[in-house]
Amino acid sequence: MKPIDSAAEFNGRIKQVIVTEEQIKEAIQKAGKQIDRIYDGRPILLVSILKGAFVFMADLCRAVSVPCEIGFMCAQSYYEGTVSSGVVNITMDLTHDLTKYHVVVVEDIIDTGRTLHDILALLRTRNPLSLHVVTLLDKPSRRLVELDADLSLFTIPDYFVIGYGLDCGEYYRNLPYIAEYSEE
Ligand code: IMP
Ligand code: MG
Repeated sequence: MKPIDSAAEFNGRIKQVIVTEEQIKEAIQKAGKQIDRIYDGRPILLVSILKGAFVFMADLCRAVSVPCEIGFMCAQSYYEGTVSSGVVNITMDLTHDLTKYHVVVVEDIIDTGRTLHDILALLRTRNPLSLHVVTLLDKPSRRLVELDADLSLFTIPDYFVIGYGLDCGEYYRNLPYIAEYSEE
């Protein structure tokens, strides 16, 4: 990422809005109701993958009505070339005993799918009652490992996107919408 020297340059890199604030709100209300229907009163544990999913988590947890706990994980995957080493480096982990929980992983975006693949493999070793994935965005054209979310709010083309939790060089997470990023 080229350094940003001015507010004009910062704003100039927001190329076009891909998903509006209103569209996000509407989709999250719908997703909350779907989650309520799936779990039908059973308590769930929403697990947000930091940092990107923190905004989505904050809105999604307020759109569900089933009893819900929240948890956070921070994970990095290491790769040898294009092949996952299968090692996830968890820099922040859950403290819950997952054998007691219906776990819903809350992700910002599924791109190649490798990070989430590794996280799910790790969570499965902890024997949760059930394990599902909800993602705000999905870029299926970029997938390198077979992986589908149980619930995906928006499918987008192969753009690098920012906003609503997603960053470029740690900036833009606070935009209330999803936009395409451009350095030109
Ligand atoms: P994956 O392992 O390739 O699926 O990468 C997933 C992670 O990469 C996401 O959780 C994001 O943090 C980041 N990422 C992937 N695509 C984008 C994007 O378009 N904008 C910002 N972050 C992205
Ligand atoms: Mg992420």
